[in-house]
Amino acid sequence: MTDRSLDEGTPGYGARAGWTREQASRIERSDDTVAPIIYPPEDDQVPEVHIWDTWFLRTRDGTLAEVDGHRVCFSLTAPSDLLPGKRHDVATIRCFYSPDGRTWHDAGPVFEAPLGQRQWAGSALYDGGDVYVYYTAAGEDGADDLTYTQRIVGASGGTIDTGDGFSLEGPWTHHELLCPDGERYEREDQSRGMIYTFRDPWFFEDPATGETCLLFEANTPVPEGSDACGGDPAQQEFNGSIGVARSPSGDPLEWELADPLLDAVCVNQELERPHVVYRDGLYYLFVSSHLHTFAPGLEGFDALYGFVAEELHGDYVPLNDSGLVVTNPENAPFQSYSWMAFPHDDEVLVQSFFNYFDFDGGTLDEIAHLPESEQMRRFGGTLAPTIRVAVDGTRTRIRGTLGHWEIPKDGEALPPTDSELIRRGRGRDRGGYVTGTRED
Ligand code: FRU
Repeated sequence: MTDRSLDEGTPGYGARAGWTREQASRIERSDDTVAPIIYPPEDDQVPEVHIWDTWFLRTRDGTLAEVDGHRVCFSLTAPSDLLPGKRHDVATIRCFYSPDGRTWHDAGPVFEAPLGQRQWAGSALYDGGDVYVYYTAAGEDGADDLTYTQRIVGASGGTIDTGDGFSLEGPWTHHELLCPDGERYEREDQSRGMIYTFRDPWFFEDPATGETCLLFEANTPVPEGSDACGGDPAQQEFNGSIGVARSPSGDPLEWELADPLLDAVCVNQELERPHVVYRDGLYYLFVSSHLHTFAPGLEGFDALYGFVAEELHGDYVPLNDSGLVVTNPENAPFQSYSWMAFPHDDEVLVQSFFNYFDFDGGTLDEIAHLPESEQMRRFGGTLAPTIRVAVDGTRTRIRGTLGHWEIPKDGEALPPTDSELIRRGRGRDRGGYVTGTRED
């Protein structure tokens, strides 16, 4: 990467950097960005629940925590006999643990009395033996009907006991940490868009500066009559942003809103589950987004998008010129979603959940028109194969995959990819089907 490419960050509307329509118009599938097709796992490790958005227990420096030999993750879950499309309305955070990063066990629902009508995505910090779980309280407590208000909450008081197996215990205290201010971050009553967002808190401590941050998904207020997007009101409704709050003291429960890291006004409405991977002195900022949340005139995919900058606060430029990092194949465009990248040696690994497979419809909405039995059959509801990505400056490339829900230990050597084996003369028969790994 030349310095010049990092100078090309473009200003946002309320953020220092913006994802522009011109950049997003370059989104297209390529060998470097399309993940292999996913087949259902041989056995569903946790058949009693649908599992989707997932995050790992991490220490302050971002490393995956290892608690007495266990890796720990948290997922949004719902009973597996529920129609998958209804899962967001009843989402419950559960904890899972694994002794080897391959076999995962259910430690049960994390909270007895969380805030909100249901809980959406977040992150988790392991700090000196204390567990903090950040989450989105969705809906108003006590309201009869389902509402879509979103607040960012931090739960403190968790500890892990491995004396007799594994348990994550409270008592938890739930702290409402952040609400939108209406200036940097849109409130629900200001929203003109399709899907309002103020959610998905993600803890990050900047290794270079020591700054303690909480990233989140939000929207930038665009007042009616604004000249944003050439004054086009239809495009102005698409106003996704990546928000950030700072903790001046480093206290995991004290936050002050700061200016957004990036916005996508006129481009995309939902920049979901923002998170950062720090490597080679650069900040790689990732989000998941949907085909249907791009503004009129733009075409994207359900995909992991990414940006890179020399400082956490910007200026960000899109990876691979457009922002596209990992997407699903054309014949299975919704096979996975909600990607989360994390560093592993000199690679970046990406976990996501196995969404709708054996389905090549044009939009996710078409799923709802299938018979209920088909909606159930085609929903993965577990973790997808972990994807291996090579990252170099502003470029990324899919190298291969690991198994469903395979999360190697920090420092654990990964197997050679197919092309590495072939180079060493130990490849499989090239005429036959080669496993899901992609060429190097
Ligand atoms: C992404 C997402 C998150 C949200 C959750 C709700 O998959 O939309 O932004 O927290 O799903 O289920």
